[in-house]
Amino acid sequence: MKKIGILGTGDVGNRIATRLVALGYEVKMGSRTANNEKAVEWAKQNGEKASTGTFTDVADFGDIIFNCTKGEITLSVFEQAGLEKFSGKIIVDITMPLDLAKGFPFSLLPQYSNTTSLSEEIQKLMPDAKVTKSLNIVNNELMANGEKAPANATMLLAGNDAGAKEEVKTILTQFGWKDILDLGGIQAARGMESFSSMWAYVYQATQNANFTITINR
Ligand SMILES: NC(=O)c1ccc[n+]([C@@H]2O[C@H](COP(=O)([O-])OP(=O)(O)OC[C@H]3O[C@@H](n4cnc5c(N)ncnc54)[C@H](OP(=O)(O)O)[C@@H]3O)[C@@H](O)[C@H]2O)c1
Repeated sequence: MKKIGILGTGDVGNRIATRLVALGYEVKMGSRTANNEKAVEWAKQNGEKASTGTFTDVADFGDIIFNCTKGEITLSVFEQAGLEKFSGKIIVDITMPLDLAKGFPFSLLPQYSNTTSLSEEIQKLMPDAKVTKSLNIVNNELMANGEKAPANATMLLAGNDAGAKEEVKTILTQFGWKDILDLGGIQAARGMESFSSMWAYVYQATQNANFTITINR
């Protein structure tokens, strides 16, 4: 079974890491420091397949890396970890490049939007990494628990490497997603990231964070 690295100790990293351990994967959660309180607590609760370390430790450990870091600092996280360590590895990028200073409803950081996306910038930074985008279109409670979503809910996926996308699809299926729509190359992350704006207005209107989309086709 492939080993999984999780960059990020927030709600997203925690949910993804917890489900992956439950599925039987060995998982390392990483942060700026080796003994991050949230990561250590997560490892304590998740048994012998769960471990913690720095971003660099995660890059060394994982065959597949889930990027669950704050969008505005994501590129610096890869730099801190060591760009060369991601060569040939699958990166599942879950970020939204939000301009948090602008508050809610969300705005995107201009340097990562419209004519580019954060996923594309990650791919440019590490041309030998296999960057895929998925899971960012739903709230963290649903990401790794697709069975809690309606059966016809659609999960989107994008990336340049067909083999990487097949591997990510397998994990999405293990997460409970049944309808997975491949949007094509990593440029499609532009659409998936700008969905954060639609997400915010739907949430504002419904006060329900756990909604999904269905692409009828
Ligand atoms: N929350 C959701 O439901 C949801 C839904 C869709 C997409 N997303 C996206 O998923 C990503 C993760 O979200 P989240 O709420 O779980 O976590 P977050 O608070 O956005 O990010 C947490 C991680 O960012 C790292 N970080 C923060 N500032 C840093 C800095 N200056 N330098 C290096 N690392 C730094 C933290 O490192 P330390 O561990 O060292 O503190 C931590 O591991 C975000 O891009 C978010 O937009 C979230």
